[in-house]
Amino acid sequence: MAAKLVVGNWKMNGSVEKNRSLVSALLQDEATAGAVVCPPCVYLSQVRDLIAGSRLRLGAQNVSRYGDGAYTGDVSAQMLAEFGCRYVIVGHSERRALFGEFDADVAQKMVVAVAAGMTPIVCVGESLQQRQQGDAVAVVLAQLQAAKELAGVEVLQASVVAYEPVWAIGTGVAATLLDVAQMHGAIKTALREWGAGDLSLLYGGSVKPEGASELMALPGVDGVLVGGASLVAAQFVAICRAAM
Ligand code: PGA
Repeated sequence: MAAKLVVGNWKMNGSVEKNRSLVSALLQDEATAGAVVCPPCVYLSQVRDLIAGSRLRLGAQNVSRYGDGAYTGDVSAQMLAEFGCRYVIVGHSERRALFGEFDADVAQKMVVAVAAGMTPIVCVGESLQQRQQGDAVAVVLAQLQAAKELAGVEVLQASVVAYEPVWAIGTGVAATLLDVAQMHGAIKTALREWGAGDLSLLYGGSVKPEGASELMALPGVDGVLVGGASLVAAQFVAICRAAM
């Protein structure tokens, strides 16, 4: 069985001092080998230096859909790759909801990330209302289908997918094991039909050390995308242990 992937999304948190102490605590535990940390963009260079020579890996939280040029405020995929990013999160629900990103933006970001040699972590997920209406699977598969059609199946094959139900993000209410198993089963079936059955599928949304091993023992769960708990070294380490 392939090792599970644990990705920490720090969101807009951190400081030079906090990053230093968080990373140094993570590096003290072998369980974090192979895990990915995604700090805010301005700290990528600092964290790259802090993890140099270790098996902790670096990712970004967002990328411009454009190549280098006159795009004030954006950061290109080439720049992220130059700073050692191997992964980049795209289509996180916070970016879709708060920054007006649509499927076409998400797909273009996947394309530029893969072209720069990075692995996009493509986030998909339904709102609470969509789940209550019984539309969860349809909504998630439609987001993935858009990614496949707009970015192309080769780009999708080079990606990681993260199922993140919007109602579970930052709420402390994780999806139940049954919800996750059903959704991951549906996503894997669709991916296989599209010729992308090999890609890793993560779960994200209020992942905590408690229950992490049961979650990652589910068939179809290849790892986790962790927000809040990735800012607390002991919690992130415990989740990495659960992944071993
Ligand atoms: P959370 O965030 O673990 O704090 O719920 C997950 C995410 O948004 O990736």
